[in-house]
Amino acid sequence: MRVKVAVGLVIALVLFDQPVLAGVSQRSQIDRRVEALLSQMTLDEKIGQLHQLFYFTQFMKPESLEPDIRAGKIGSLLFLTDPALINRFQKVAVENSRLKIPLLFGFDVIHGFHTIFPVPLAMASSWDPALVEQAQSVAAREARAVGVHWTFAPMVDIARDPRWGRIVEGAGEDPFLGSRMAAAQVRGFQGADPSSPDHVLACMKHFAGYGAGDGGRDYDSAYIADAELYNVYLPPFKSAVDAGVGSAMSAYMDLNDVPATANAFLLRDVLRKQWGFKGFVVSDAEAVGNLVTHGFAEDKSDAAYRAFTAGVDLEMSFPGNPIASTYSSSLSKLIEEGRVTKAQLDEAVRRILEAKFKLGLFENPYVDESRVAAIHNNPEHRRLARVAAQRSTVLLRNEGNVLPLVKGDPKVSSVAVIGPLADSKRDIRGSWSFVDDIKSAVTVLEGIRAKVASSVKVEYAPGVDIARVYQSPFAIIQGSRAAPWTETQKRAEFDKAVSLARSSDVIVMVLGEQEEMSGEAASQSSIELPGQQLELLKAISSLGKPLVLVLINGRPLDISWAAGNLSAILEAWHPGSEGGNAVADILYGDATPGGKLPVTWPRSAAQIPIYYGHNLTQEPETRKNFTSRYWDIPSSPLYPFGYGLSYTTFSFSNLRVSKPEIKVGENTEVLVDVENTGRRAGEEVAQLYIHQRYGSASRPVRELKGFERITLAAGQKRTVRFTLGKPELTYWSGAVKEWVQEPAVFDLWVGADATAPLTTTLRVVKR
Ligand code: BGC
Repeated sequence: MRVKVAVGLVIALVLFDQPVLAGVSQRSQIDRRVEALLSQMTLDEKIGQLHQLFYFTQFMKPESLEPDIRAGKIGSLLFLTDPALINRFQKVAVENSRLKIPLLFGFDVIHGFHTIFPVPLAMASSWDPALVEQAQSVAAREARAVGVHWTFAPMVDIARDPRWGRIVEGAGEDPFLGSRMAAAQVRGFQGADPSSPDHVLACMKHFAGYGAGDGGRDYDSAYIADAELYNVYLPPFKSAVDAGVGSAMSAYMDLNDVPATANAFLLRDVLRKQWGFKGFVVSDAEAVGNLVTHGFAEDKSDAAYRAFTAGVDLEMSFPGNPIASTYSSSLSKLIEEGRVTKAQLDEAVRRILEAKFKLGLFENPYVDESRVAAIHNNPEHRRLARVAAQRSTVLLRNEGNVLPLVKGDPKVSSVAVIGPLADSKRDIRGSWSFVDDIKSAVTVLEGIRAKVASSVKVEYAPGVDIARVYQSPFAIIQGSRAAPWTETQKRAEFDKAVSLARSSDVIVMVLGEQEEMSGEAASQSSIELPGQQLELLKAISSLGKPLVLVLINGRPLDISWAAGNLSAILEAWHPGSEGGNAVADILYGDATPGGKLPVTWPRSAAQIPIYYGHNLTQEPETRKNFTSRYWDIPSSPLYPFGYGLSYTTFSFSNLRVSKPEIKVGENTEVLVDVENTGRRAGEEVAQLYIHQRYGSASRPVRELKGFERITLAAGQKRTVRFTLGKPELTYWSGAVKEWVQEPAVFDLWVGADATAPLTTTLRVVKR
């Protein structure tokens, strides 16, 4: 027997590679250190570890927090990005507090830190998880350089309502694409070892269902049936957990009448029991105190009790807010009363300490301020940001191959760049860009000027001014905008833009949204182009000149008029620091567009919610006499999910399955030939969709289950393969109330978007 054990051990040592063993021993070492520390902590020190506060350099003084840090009453700070200040606070914790426990510094590193990458919705449009991973690893390196250890990202909320401002922060409407983007971001942020000086701890948010708020209104209640929750809203979170995400943030809103921040079903049953999540949970800002506002908790103490016992480990608060810091004010009493046990408290503290050990903060609490500039100014970061922005653009329309424009075209001696966003450094970056060097952001105007020959006159006119009706709460940090134009100014600027267009050979109009028009607290009732942008577009388009519309925005907008009347539309989203260069690269053919929509694009807000993965139900829309579910407009979207053009053309053929019949639990391969049928190299995203024809519950008309972005030279042909098996064919049945894989016939499609016609079938039979 003993011999067998010994042989087993030797085999295990040989089979497991070193990192696995190192990982195991590192974990047990961390466990021992956590326990040793925990055994020395007072009740107040433990509660202190569960207390996180915002620090705003703009209006706070370090002295206001130092006494509490020294006393061990604060475990974490957020929103600090100045390395000197971070070191200053850390010194108080590490050198002056009794147990010398380092502080954990968190920040919203959403799509870059010093180098701003395209907004997450744009990054998802790249359908390129490897690129997304690379971008987030650059963001992590730049953030860690100043001492930020922890990012509140990725946001993996599924969003099917473009009125919701935060649609810009996620990967769109689809659980499969969303899951791939979630895992890629976690890998990028955390790397293999979050203690390395190049990585940070990731935080998946907002758990869960935040994207489904009523009316697309930010923070409003969400009502999501279990089947939709499991099949649509939760998969990206599960994918982040599987990728090893270190923390999770509870959402603000009520989910089915139970606030997400006190929702034991989400935080205990799903997150811990079903998924085995080992990291810690932080509340969203003031979400614990707000349990009273929800009409859920009786008072602050009850709020603390309900959030804590539901599974929120760390409370995020604004200092001085009357509803802030409920844990600090109530937990010791709750323990005294026996409503919260010491064991429960230890469990939460253990998770926070474990994260601090894993991040290597006890060994390296400080940041080397002398390294910051070199890391931030690494030209490789800007290069990657430019590639990311190129790959995130989606070509929506290109009638008569207006694009690419020809560099050095002898017929073109002047280009008019028009629109309120054409030369806005602030808006090219997108929301959650707080600490980059705004001056270094490249606008579309600048990108075009840098691209064309100096003999070509490139002139600019904003044409209209746009603004939110209600100011963004982030104006406190970002600063207010210039005063709106007077009526006289408006008329003069409009006319100036039209006459500039009239006297130019080519017109590039850059329209869309300011950065604060999407993001948090940026929901919108209409999705029309804000202000008088459409009037300007119509006036300029009536000149009959070559015209390209470039969109800078964070959500699908109502562009039905443009889609019906213009030849060329390029969706650039908020493309980041290098956005203007990337747009110019695409416009002039130095890069080829290959991005695809991660959302279904509605014709107007009246169609919302609209998403491709809906159920068929009653009469099919394709049957004679039933061409639309509305009588006034088609029920089809303006552009389908997965859609995007290229400067070349592709064909899909020879769709086949390696095994047309499989048993439940088995795999098959789906193969398709993709050919570049045009005359230049280009990129296509091959997308696999399935439909289960019958089962214990109705299934969506189509569901994405595989994709691959490929590059093909002109005339080149390649076979793309996907594996279909249990993970792809399983769903949560609202009838069975469980995950099921059912024997059934499946339709399969592979092609360039969610309406791909090329189809075959797969039969799944009983095991
Ligand atoms: C947002 C979170 C963010 C947090 C910290 C909240 O208002 O909902 O997404 O991480 O603030 O900035």
